[in-house]
Amino acid sequence: MPRGNSALSAASPATRPPEHVAIIMDGNGRWALAQGRAREWGHRRGAEAVRKVVEAAPGLGIRTLTLYAFSSDNWKRPAREVALLMRLFRRYLSKEAARLAENGVRLRVVGRRDRLAPEILEAIELAEATTVHGRRMTLRLAVDYSSRHALLEAVRLAAADGGAADLERDMVAALLGRATHADGPSPDVDLLIRTGGEQRLSDFLLWECAYAELYFTPTMWPDFTAQDLAAAVRDFGSRERRFGTVALAG
Ligand code: FPP
Repeated sequence: MPRGNSALSAASPATRPPEHVAIIMDGNGRWALAQGRAREWGHRRGAEAVRKVVEAAPGLGIRTLTLYAFSSDNWKRPAREVALLMRLFRRYLSKEAARLAENGVRLRVVGRRDRLAPEILEAIELAEATTVHGRRMTLRLAVDYSSRHALLEAVRLAAADGGAADLERDMVAALLGRATHADGPSPDVDLLIRTGGEQRLSDFLLWECAYAELYFTPTMWPDFTAQDLAAAVRDFGSRERRFGTVALAG
């Protein structure tokens, strides 16, 4: 049945927590510059915010959390900044994997893997293997991620599988999962949060956000806390989700 019809019987406004929350973690650089520090300082503090938010998310009922850690366009940044981001990312994987596993969090890195350094790939594979049994929440870190590239890859995969003429929506989600090494279909986003005051999607989960509720906050990512995440989840609870249909009277 199309999702729009099944949504008629769904609770409205949304009383359930968002199953899939995706976050565009923006504002690290501006946060640091505002304090007279180098942009890199903002990324270091941003990595601490990641730890806290990931720890809080399962307790809020979130089943999948996707964090935009490095977009495919971020390669255009100064080499020094790219190198630091990769270091922070690798450190996060190696230091946090055991803790994530203890907390029942399964980690997947989504995006391209053909341009990552061997030591990063090794850290990814180890962290994914360490956390493979996590059932409370899936944490998806988007690294070298571009939604348009993922869609192109999905089309190529479909063509290689014998053509795209009979494709259905669920199959696209599965192809997107394959295209981004997600180990399963790429789930629809319920709530998309963007910090740092900008209001755009920046090539993030374009297919998956078709019916996402959007939440923009001026808070810079290093200042974003578990309480801020809880506030966004509460705000989601006040949204009326209609999926293109109309609200039922009475
Ligand atoms: C955008 O801020 C943020 C990024 C491009 C990188 C996000 C990285 C982290 C939060 C830290 C490392 C991540 C992990 C998973 C350990 P920006 O620098 O574009 O901010 P600006 O808009 O103020 O310049």
